[in-house]
Order: sequence, then C-alpha cells, then structure tokens
Amino acid sequence: MLDQVTSNTARSNLAPIPFEADAPFLKISGELPRELNGTLYRNGPNPQFEAPGAHWFVGDGMLHAFHLENGRASYRNRWVRTPKWQAEHDAGRALFGGFGRKIPDAPATTTTDGGVANTNIIFHGGRLLALEEGHLPTEIEPGTLNRLGYCDYQGAISGPFSAHPKIDPVTGEMVFFGYNAAGPLTPALSYGAVSASGVVTRFERFEAPYASMVHDFIVTENHVLFPILPITGSMQRAMRGQAPYAWEPEKGAYVGVMKRNGASKDIVWFRAETCYVFHVMNAWEEGNRIVADVMQFEEAPLFNHPDGSPTDPKKNRARYCRWTFDLSGNTDRFTQTYLDDLTGEFPRVDDRRAGFASNHAGTPAPTLTCRCSVRCRASCMSTAAASGSATISCPPVIRSPSRCSSNAAPTPRKATAGCSRWSGAPAKTVATSPSSTRRMSRSARRRWFISAIACRTDSTAIGWGRSSTQSSQT
Ligand SMILES: [Fe+2]
Repeated sequence: MLDQVTSNTARSNLAPIPFEADAPFLKISGELPRELNGTLYRNGPNPQFEAPGAHWFVGDGMLHAFHLENGRASYRNRWVRTPKWQAEHDAGRALFGGFGRKIPDAPATTTTDGGVANTNIIFHGGRLLALEEGHLPTEIEPGTLNRLGYCDYQGAISGPFSAHPKIDPVTGEMVFFGYNAAGPLTPALSYGAVSASGVVTRFERFEAPYASMVHDFIVTENHVLFPILPITGSMQRAMRGQAPYAWEPEKGAYVGVMKRNGASKDIVWFRAETCYVFHVMNAWEEGNRIVADVMQFEEAPLFNHPDGSPTDPKKNRARYCRWTFDLSGNTDRFTQTYLDDLTGEFPRVDDRRAGFASNHAGTPAPTLTCRCSVRCRASCMSTAAASGSATISCPPVIRSPSRCSSNAAPTPRKATAGCSRWSGAPAKTVATSPSSTRRMSRSARRRWFISAIACRTDSTAIGWGRSSTQSSQT
C-alpha cells in the first residue's frame, strides 16, 4: 500500500511528509479572534522510511500541532520518537516491515518494540497521549511534542491500549480496553478506567469468544460493549508466514455487554448477522435498551480470507447502521438496522454528547457524520465538535496526509497543559474553543472556521497545505 501511496504522489497528497518543521508565524487570511486560544493536535501514520510489506496502518506516528494565541497561528510537526523510529533513524533505513515485524536483515540487536503511536491523540488527566492499539499510550510533552515514554500509570495497567478510549462527558472518567491482552493473537481483552484526575480505578482481563481485531468499542452511561467481529487473529497463520489477520465470517458476530460498575464474569454475549465495524459513532441507553450507531461493513475491507482470496468489494462499504440491544428481552440477538444511505468511515459526534442520544431533533444526526470518502478533513470535524455546531460541514478541497479523521485532539476545555508555548513553558490555563465559539455568532464561527482553513492552505511552510492545493487542481 505504501508503494501505491508513494507512487501516486503526483495525483495524491497521501505521501508521507519527509521532514519536521516549525512555522511560528503562519500566514492568516482574514482575522483570528484574539480570544480563541489553544492547540489542536493531530496524529497519523507517516513512515520515516519505505519498507518491504509496509502497511499504512503501521507508519510511524507523526504529530501535528496547530496553536492559536492572540490572533496568531503557528504550527509544529514531529515524529513520535518511538524505539522503532529511533532505531531506524540511527540506522538510516527501515528495520521493520509488515505489521510490526522486523525485516530479515535487521540486526539482531534491533529493538523488538515495533510500536508506532500513530492512530490517535487525546488529552486526559493532565496527560497528552498518543495512541496505537498494539501498545500502551505514549505520553507526549505538550508544546515541544517530545516523547516522554510509555504511560502505564505507575504500573497500574499493562498490555495493548485501544486507540479509541471514551471519556465520559459528565464525570471525565476515561474507559478503555485492549485486545491481544494476553499476548499477540490471543482472545483476551482488557478493560480499565482512569479517573478525571488521571488515576487508574479499574483494570482487568477477560476472554472473548475468539481472537479478533477490535478497533473500537461502545460506552454508554452505565454499560460498556465489546464487539468481537470476525477479522480473526491466528498465531498458526502467523507461524506459517501468512497474514495473521483474516476475514472469517463463519466465526459470527458477538457483542459483549457489561455494566460499567459490574464484573467481566457477568458479561452477556449478544449475537447478530456477521459484519464488521471499525468505528462507533455514539451509543446511549433508552430504558432497558442500548442503542448504538455504527458504520457497518457487510464484509471487512483491507483484509483477505484465510486462503488469501479477497473479500467482496461490493460489500466493503461502511453504512450507517443502528444496533439495538434489548437487555430485558428473552433473546441473545441484537438488531442491525441501516438508517440512511450514509456511507464512509470515521463517524464523529460532539464529544460532549458521547453516551447521550444523538438525535437532538428527533432524527439521527447525519450532519455530525463524516461522510468523507478520503482520509481527510480531520480538522473540520474536530472544529465542528469543538464548536458544538452540528452544521459545519466539510469543505470540499481540504485534505491531509494523515490517516484517521477521528484522530484529532482539540485542547480540552479546561486545559492546563503547557500548550501555550512551543518551548513547553509552565502550564497555563487556556481559553477554550467551545466556550469561545459559543460566544461567537454563527456567522462569526463560520468566518473563523474558513479563516482557520485558509491559514493552513495558504501556508507554504507546512507542506501539506500546498499539497491540498495541488490535489484540488487535479
Ligand atoms: Fe480509528
């Protein structure tokens, strides 16, 4: 895939960014409100070197920080200095290929840690964390973007940590899970919680029906749900040199429902028609029912059957689907209902609505669903989320080279990180996008949004803004 990406550079802006940069004074078209201060962090795969068998999913994480302060805008990007990145940087070449495996001619002394910290970035409990589902969170110093190391909360957690933890908008608690929790390609999952102040309050492991790739999960006010869907993991395949993950629909679709204050031994496993879901948009409770809106594939994209044959491309389309679980019914089945012809990936709601019904106006909230067919527009979706507006839409030409449009972390509303200075100066409470934008009129918000986009696309210092322009002309 990397070869495809890099060979299509002339037609695409998906090629890796080969440099790190500081742009302290971005050109601004229009005017930024002086009261709008803070930093928007983004993360995405950006391989340092081309590698045989490389997959987009395992490119080295590159962080981008857009900082607004007193009407000025600046930008910084840095690779996350993971052990893998540092080893390859020192060697001047790739040492890892495929899914985190060392290439055959890598020196025996090369680190075994293939973590890339490339999928998401969040701010929680006073920590800025770069996430990738195969490893612990990587703590990043706000402002400098220096890597501080893995974050295990003083040894309270271990093993893989989801790239999509959920932060309770009421309590500030972060809940998370991990798959392959007992080792690579095992059916064990972990589940845990971290308080708003950054203290681990719960961590345990349990067995799922089979080993699968579990990219996202579901959290409501009182429940947590674990989808076990048949992109299966197999150590036997891996030992034979085959792809460790494959599409095995006959394994069936399971979703485990657990009370957030309950125990994993009491998980109830629901069943449904085979499908795959990478991302959950939102979920909430309606009496004894749990409703979850997801983007559902009939057959998983990106992965083949165990014999290497591809899945049906006609079924590789994610569709907006509502799952409903009746906790008081006499059935272990849950329903799957396609609600609309919305397709695409990376659904997003305002984070403050997480766990609450999304249908504010009595209908689902398609305006909050990212319908982008390209891996782009993270900033616009994050802006929409930060502003609390359900009506800001994706502009047509903005693209970035990073992967996941849910991979953006706006500075939190009560941020105290040292994100106001690139030097990583002492923490300072910063004004927040939501409160600032709430004070703005709708038209002013729109103007600010356009200005923010313009300042990025007009900048020649940051590279991918220029690529966006190129891409829009082709
Ligand atoms: Fe994701």
